[in-house]
Amino acid sequence: MSHVDEQAGSRRDFLYYATAGAGAVATGAAVWPLVNQMNPSADVQALSSIFVDISSVEPGTQLTVKYLGKPVFIRRRTQEEIDDARAVDISGLIDKASENPNKPATDASDANRAMDEAGEWLVMIGVCTHLGCVPIGDGAGEFGGWFCPCHGSHYDTSGRIRKGPAPQNLHIPVAEFTDNSTIKLG
Ligand code: FES
Repeated sequence: MSHVDEQAGSRRDFLYYATAGAGAVATGAAVWPLVNQMNPSADVQALSSIFVDISSVEPGTQLTVKYLGKPVFIRRRTQEEIDDARAVDISGLIDKASENPNKPATDASDANRAMDEAGEWLVMIGVCTHLGCVPIGDGAGEFGGWFCPCHGSHYDTSGRIRKGPAPQNLHIPVAEFTDNSTIKLG
């Protein structure tokens, strides 16, 4: 099955579940833990790494891939998004600490959260830290980043929680560039 087919199949599965499950469809939000059909099979789960071709991701857009049963957002940020994220005083954040397994620092500064020094690439696990819905991206919410419609959590352009019930910033997975157009997850 091709990647595209698999994605289309997953979408169909999700639509079925959302319709059958009621509630979740009212807000247009996906409750990730309930969508069991999207969990990887045992052989997929056994894979520790995947390689993602990012060559077609334009600035201001986001690629969402499934990794170990969860969505991972790979966003190529505009300079405006980067500037907004870097202008934030982290002392005023809800979650000032940000575990980034790829970097030694543990603060929630944008420089610590972004993949590259310039801050163009941001890779995060696309699961709301409140109760696990998948936030909407592309400048959604009051802080121009992501918005979780389940209970109204607003994340900024660095994926940091700024308003709403979510207790933590969006988590960052193990990730690295293997060349200019490939990111390895895991
Ligand atoms: S699950 Fe996102 S706000 Fe509740």
